[in-house]
Amino acid sequence: MFVLIWLVSCVSRLHRSPTLLHLRHSRITHSLKSNQMASTFLSLPSVSPSAAQSVQDKCKDKMKSGNAFKSAFFGKDKQPLSMKTKSHGRITMAVAVKASRFDSITMAPPDPILGVSEAFKADTNELKLNLGVGAYRTEELQPYVLKVVRKAENLMLERGENKEYLPIEGLAAFNKATAELLFGADNPVLHEQRVATIQGLSGTGSLRIAAALIERYFPGAKILISSPTWGNHKNIFNDARVPWSEYRYYDPKTVGLDFDGMIEDIKAAPEGSFVLLHGCAHNPTGIDPTPQQWEKIADVIQEKNHFPFFDVAYQGFASGSLDEDASSVRLFAARGMELLVAQSYSKNLGLYAERVGAINVLCSSPDAAIRVKSQMKRIARPMYSNPPVHGARIVANVVGNPDFFNEWKDEMEMMAGRIKSVRQKLYNNLSSKDKTGKDWSFVLKQIGMFSFTGLNKAQSDNMTDKWHIYMTKDGRISLAGLSAAKCEYLADAIIDSYHNVS
Ligand SMILES: Cc1ncc(COP(=O)(O)O)c(C=O)c1O
Ligand SMILES: *[C@@H]1O[C@H](CO)[C@@H](O)[C@H](O)[C@H]1NC(C)=O
Ligand SMILES: *[C@@H]1O[C@H](CO)[C@@H](O)[C@H](O)[C@H]1NC(C)=O
Repeated sequence: MFVLIWLVSCVSRLHRSPTLLHLRHSRITHSLKSNQMASTFLSLPSVSPSAAQSVQDKCKDKMKSGNAFKSAFFGKDKQPLSMKTKSHGRITMAVAVKASRFDSITMAPPDPILGVSEAFKADTNELKLNLGVGAYRTEELQPYVLKVVRKAENLMLERGENKEYLPIEGLAAFNKATAELLFGADNPVLHEQRVATIQGLSGTGSLRIAAALIERYFPGAKILISSPTWGNHKNIFNDARVPWSEYRYYDPKTVGLDFDGMIEDIKAAPEGSFVLLHGCAHNPTGIDPTPQQWEKIADVIQEKNHFPFFDVAYQGFASGSLDEDASSVRLFAARGMELLVAQSYSKNLGLYAERVGAINVLCSSPDAAIRVKSQMKRIARPMYSNPPVHGARIVANVVGNPDFFNEWKDEMEMMAGRIKSVRQKLYNNLSSKDKTGKDWSFVLKQIGMFSFTGLNKAQSDNMTDKWHIYMTKDGRISLAGLSAAKCEYLADAIIDSYHNVS
């Protein structure tokens, strides 16, 4: 549809241009309506090439971001096809010579994380196990809706709340609650009104707003991301045109943190870079810095005048405690640093599909916070106008009601506890069944939903091909998708793949 509107606007500008003459509108609109675009020509009367060129160029500029469209309309050599002057005094513009003007759009590769679930669905073996996507499952491996969420929803239904638009920045009660959960309700940064918070489309959408803010107001600044990181981070910063590079994080020798490498790389980055940090439960490794290491990371970031940018997708879900999981962010805030934090309620409240999260920018002054907030709203408005209300109301109701809030904490502890318990059982099975003496203790040192097994791509492939265990090819398994009953089977598969596949 977009293409059609665009074409009509280009064509009508050609038409309006004083140097350009008659255009056969009827034929154009007819062919635009037709899905069979084969051999459609727009016949234009002869005009001076330069006049046609300037209008064409303007239209071409508009298409810079759509290469596929560009080549469909202007040919692979990027010359406007309409420039070919025919001997009979007409310019002929080939609008589309193929069956579809989308023929030059190639097939996109499947998403490396969500694609795993597709493959899992297609497998008919009854032993199959999906450890690909990071979503909590019960011991019966069923999706789980928190009881407190059901209660909040029932209350909302009883109240019969309306479905009017939210403001661009989202639900006020949610924004207040989310900043308080993050920084702690009596954190001076909140009382000093130094935090700009807007509701985003979960963690991903909130990261995307912050990325747009960086691109717009810190042009050329790059963001450092951990190697490895959550697969979507690179997509987000690529799409926002924020240059990124990686800092060392994972040490394959120890299946632990390469702390020295991390510090070196953050030090070596140009002053004033953004540094993306996972607030807790690093995805995919499950390896977090210790409190002492966080202090040193903060030292280096301050020394280099970098901007810390936290991605907090697992608050409360990692340790079971909301406060403990926010301690990294609070440590940086207490040092008086300016920072960004993206939040998500997908995991800790199980609101995956409700798309509820927030982006917070902690500023040095309340005045800066007001201005930053106004600009984030300006970024959000043309992207999606305003965020959805349902999930935000759930969060606001759960946090705003002391009984609900305590129930939530209990359920979060229950979920975190189940994951810890399968982690322990997996480790027990690995260490008792592997007779080679290999040290599997890294499994226990990792935190949160994931375990990075250290399996390489071939070994991960074998986990799937031979054992029907679905996981991402970087060796990550989601323990949230594992039941106690399947721990032994998983351990057998890991031991076999690790020792028998190179
Ligand atoms: C590190 C990290 N950041 C952000 C997200 C965002 O998820 P969502 O957009 O569902 O909130 C995830 C989810 O897997 C994640 O692991
Ligand atoms: C992995 O599993 C398949 C299927 O069972 C097996 O045939 C193959 O030999 C294994 N691959 C490797 C590289 O060992
Ligand atoms: C190994 O896994 C089984 C289930 O798969 C579990 O019942 C058992 O407790 C585990 N072994 C140990 C030593 O934890």
